[in-house]
Amino acid sequence: MSWTARVLTLFPEMFPGPLGHSLAGRALKRGDWALEPIDLRYFATDRHRSVDDAPFGGGAGMVMRADVIDAALEAKSLPDAPQIVLTPRGRPLTQRRVAELAAGPGVVLVCGRYEGIDQRVIEARGLEEISIGDYVLSGGEPAAMVLLDACVRLLPGVMGAAESVLEESFSQGLLEYPHYTRPALWKGRAVPEVLISGNHAEIAAWRRREAERITRERRPDLWAAYRALAEAAPTA
Ligand code: ADE
Repeated sequence: MSWTARVLTLFPEMFPGPLGHSLAGRALKRGDWALEPIDLRYFATDRHRSVDDAPFGGGAGMVMRADVIDAALEAKSLPDAPQIVLTPRGRPLTQRRVAELAAGPGVVLVCGRYEGIDQRVIEARGLEEISIGDYVLSGGEPAAMVLLDACVRLLPGVMGAAESVLEESFSQGLLEYPHYTRPALWKGRAVPEVLISGNHAEIAAWRRREAERITRERRPDLWAAYRALAEAAPTA
């Protein structure tokens, strides 16, 4: 069976959305991965099909019910696949976790809406909470799409040889160096000389220096981690 994403959501019609296009969309059509949006409302038990309710303790918004999410997970788990809730409270998503998820059988994603999900189902099911960044979306669906896009491009056969994952500077803990294409002179701006020199060693060294400079300037956190790694294993 191909890598499978089951997405539990109140808005199944949002999928595949952007995942139906470009690299992920072509891979989906080829069957390199499978996407199964699951309507959480189907697992509602009362006659109003309610999936959420007011928070105990008061306050604004609605909380998604534990029993509904539990029933959906009971019916729709995938053998050995992690079960993940997308929430701004989660651990930040990293390329490392993305690579681990892509190497497994797939994922079951729960998209939260409203104020969140009843804590008891998160604990009872041992759900992993993941955030895609320090900002708040109106729901987990776009976050689920981000996570899936990042995983799918790592699946075997999805990326062409031109786009080598291992050579990406990010996989080495650095931000990407700048890119240039034709025309060589545009609005008075020339492409850096070294890139048209034909000297591949010098080009590689220039790119490495630029990736390091940009990482140092923009992301002191990544830079510190990169330096720590370089000191532990100087040949890497
Ligand atoms: N749901 C709402 N905001 C989110 C975020 N930043 N990451 C993951 N899921 C979310």
